[in-house]
Amino acid sequence: MTTPKRRLDLTRSLEILERAKKLIPGTTQLISRRPTRAALGFSPIYAQSARGCRITDVDGNEFIDWFSAVGPIILGYAHPVVDAAVKAQIDRGSIYSIVHESSVELAELLVRLVPSAEMVRYAKGGGEACTMAVRIARGVTGRDKVLLSGYHGWHDWYLAANLGAERLADHLFNGIDPIGVPKGLEGTALPFEYGDLNRLEDLLRAHDGEVAAIIMEPMRTELPPEGYLQGVRDLADRYGVVLIFDEVSCGWRIALGGVQEVTGVTPDLTVFAKAMSNGYPMAAVVGRRSVMQPVERMFISSAYWDDNVGIAASLATIGELERIDAPALFERLGAAFRARIDAAAAATGCPVRCIGVAAHPRIQFDVPAEHSAKVATLFVQENARHGVILAGGFFFNAAHDDADALDRTEGAVRASFSVIADGLQRDCLDDLIECELVEESFRRLVR
Ligand SMILES: Cc1ncc(COP(=O)(O)O)c(C=O)c1O
Repeated sequence: MTTPKRRLDLTRSLEILERAKKLIPGTTQLISRRPTRAALGFSPIYAQSARGCRITDVDGNEFIDWFSAVGPIILGYAHPVVDAAVKAQIDRGSIYSIVHESSVELAELLVRLVPSAEMVRYAKGGGEACTMAVRIARGVTGRDKVLLSGYHGWHDWYLAANLGAERLADHLFNGIDPIGVPKGLEGTALPFEYGDLNRLEDLLRAHDGEVAAIIMEPMRTELPPEGYLQGVRDLADRYGVVLIFDEVSCGWRIALGGVQEVTGVTPDLTVFAKAMSNGYPMAAVVGRRSVMQPVERMFISSAYWDDNVGIAASLATIGELERIDAPALFERLGAAFRARIDAAAAATGCPVRCIGVAAHPRIQFDVPAEHSAKVATLFVQENARHGVILAGGFFFNAAHDDADALDRTEGAVRASFSVIADGLQRDCLDDLIECELVEESFRRLVR
């Protein structure tokens, strides 16, 4: 007789979820946090608290968390230095009728770190900051069309790409409808395939004189192909287009000056959010003076963009990232993580490997396409069963540099890989899945 497998008690999480279903369409605000994107019945749904790289859920289960709040947590949850700076700011007042000197200090810091930054504006979220950058590009060029590659948020200018024949199917999860996006925007946002300079040039030629911006994620987990970003830069110059790097998700882990520091290719504008403030809402658009100075004449204005809590959090976060030499730490952590994943793969015979740059890798299963959703589900399910929140894509934070967290993760991953290898070998993946299939997550064009 086989012993039934351990299953965590998620009673309270599931009760709260039922209440949420009646009140909150979709139950969460960020699609990636929806319980249907994890292993429902195995993964935690409602958090009680978090510290370092550990989350405790409302049922009292503790998990090693590798999602880092879907990117924003870079130093670890409840980081003492960042939180002390935030609390000190709260004690002085979070926002005023006038501005605070710290807004200038943060601008000075960003200009020192980011090669192409000469002027700075702030926002609160990544999608909002991308929208600001696109508005700036349209404002300075007097043109309307935008070429895009990657994910840039939920706003109309971006989802307009899904109104016409040029679909975002390769950028977003399939089947997304641009519901509520004005049909008049059709043809204003045109996606291009990352890595394909010919297609980009075709689009620029076909829409010559009409394109305001090329906005792209310069990388995700893989370094850009040799010469690619320089090719994009050259095309942007040739066609008089503003080049925008969206570093909302790739920013701060690989280099503090952005992908431009690593590749030497500088955009006109760069968008940062998420990890720049270790979990407090904050975003920035930085760029060349010639592109940024005209912003003073554009109507780009919002009350909370002068909030000092996000600025205090950013100053403290970036200060800590510099002090600990975060890119070197993530590089070292990534090498240790990869060694453990590869060892677990070899020990279990599971067809899986860790790919991408050490500081921001992914776990990739080399299985036929018809198995990939099942394998992804089993991986999340079995990891959660062993107290680890981990899927193929994840974000390091500095608190992962912890032997116990790495040991526990390696143990969980070995157990998960064994189950997957067994399911593949005996062709019985379906029998091993005890939850709904994890909904397809963003299909990333940029690896
Ligand atoms: C590259 C990129 N741009 C923009 C966004 C949108 O940021 P936010 O969710 O803060 O609006 C994201 C979020 O994942 C992102 O990864």
